[in-house]
Amino acid sequence: MAQEVTANKARLVVDDAFEVAPVNNRLFGSFVEHLGRCVYTGIYEPGHPTADEDGFRQDVIDLVRELGATTIRYPGGNFMSGYRWEDGVGPKGQRPRRLDLAWHSTETNEFGLHEMVKWLDKCGGNELMEAANLGTRGLQEALDLLEYSNIPGGTALSEQRRANGADKPFDIRMWCLGNEMDGPWQIGHKSAEDYGTLAASVAAGMRMMDPDLELVVCGSSSHEMDTFGRWEETVLEKTYEAVNFISCHAYYFPALKEDGTRDMGSFLASGVDMDGFINDVAAAIDATKARLKSKHEVYISFDEWNVWYQHDEPSRNPEGIGNWPVAPRLLEDLYSVADAVVFGDLMITLLKNADRVHAASLAQLVNVIAPIMTEPNGPAWRQTTFYPFAVTAEYAKGGTVLEPKLASGTYDTAKYGEVPVVNSVAVRGADGTVSVFVVNRSLDAEQDFEIKLPEGLFAKTVTAQTLHDDDLLAKNTLDNQNRVVLHDNDTASLDGETGTAHVVLPPVSWTALHFA
Ligand code: AHR
Repeated sequence: MAQEVTANKARLVVDDAFEVAPVNNRLFGSFVEHLGRCVYTGIYEPGHPTADEDGFRQDVIDLVRELGATTIRYPGGNFMSGYRWEDGVGPKGQRPRRLDLAWHSTETNEFGLHEMVKWLDKCGGNELMEAANLGTRGLQEALDLLEYSNIPGGTALSEQRRANGADKPFDIRMWCLGNEMDGPWQIGHKSAEDYGTLAASVAAGMRMMDPDLELVVCGSSSHEMDTFGRWEETVLEKTYEAVNFISCHAYYFPALKEDGTRDMGSFLASGVDMDGFINDVAAAIDATKARLKSKHEVYISFDEWNVWYQHDEPSRNPEGIGNWPVAPRLLEDLYSVADAVVFGDLMITLLKNADRVHAASLAQLVNVIAPIMTEPNGPAWRQTTFYPFAVTAEYAKGGTVLEPKLASGTYDTAKYGEVPVVNSVAVRGADGTVSVFVVNRSLDAEQDFEIKLPEGLFAKTVTAQTLHDDDLLAKNTLDNQNRVVLHDNDTASLDGETGTAHVVLPPVSWTALHFA
């Protein structure tokens, strides 16, 4: 039962006898799509002062390592639903230039599968999560790509890979079966029946070649879609035994109100919506499992999540029959402090659901709604959202999520009704330390946050880092790259005798505490 709390106070009881689940490192995945400048002048820019012999920007590789991103989803996204993977392999000079219908751009194909695998190696051996095109293509092309990627040699396509410079197979384990196939914007979008039938046959075919693949079937492209629910039911019914994951995608932004201001109260509660979304999809999985009397488990791959101002100018596609630019500036949102607090809350929500969500991809990694920004021939820098991601990844990887027993006051929102002011989760690290991540969603009030630590933790020190700024809209820009950074929160204190800690959470803030 929730403990009574007075206004502006919240309390978390951490009991390490109650575990939610181990943290799957794939929760810290991200996403590289051929979209705008994510690839070109993002991760790949031959001629850039930091570019290596493959044309990869070393400044970006350094930031990707610092961010701690793990599995990378590639090559899309909407782009992938019109993509021919063969265009991106073989001698660069012979690769075709193609129209990218999803983003009204020209794809030069200078960067493809081999470059991606090599780049991931240089980032520290990150896992590749490859997506198969089920928009304009189908089973045969998915099988060809799988043979090219995973068969050691001795067949036409595996030998072609070897001739193209990759002697060893790429051994790609995780595959998306298409992308957002219920979205009318998707090239080749389908009904749930048609997609479910196609995905089931592609999954079966791929498993005939490589039985242990981990396959992700498309859920509806958002919680808000009219198709949501029925889509999950129909698609899971057809594919349940053949897949390991169903995808969720969610993007949040503060809605414009009639008076021209933004609904920040609801925006700050975006984690509540994400939590409900996960519960709804988990219910659809459970219902299908029960109906089919199955023993098989299907988990959630939350393989697109972020804050995205998707109706604003930076997300407008180029237009015109003669206007298909190469790597235009698209979806280059600059994130504020408030955006980063919501972002941190979404990470807390993913961790809280670590029993159902076994993989997640922050969409995206560089320039396109991204934690890392670059200028062509210029610097790379960290957005505000970089910080909650990097710190959460650093402390939570390899750990175990503990059941959050949280008491908090509430506030009213236009979109989600009454919601908790504070959201928090605790993770026991592999080394026995405990980390607590917490957001204060209040627009105007500090919160006095108390943490009761597990019996027997004997923590001696607490460090606390907070993301907050009196200007909620402060951002890091090309001209002021470190305007927003994390600050030590000196209000954090620990009473070793009682195992109780306190910290003051400023309004609209995200904080990470680490007990050692
Ligand atoms: O991440 C940007 C786009 O959002 C992706 O291409 C698509 O899958 C989603 O609609």
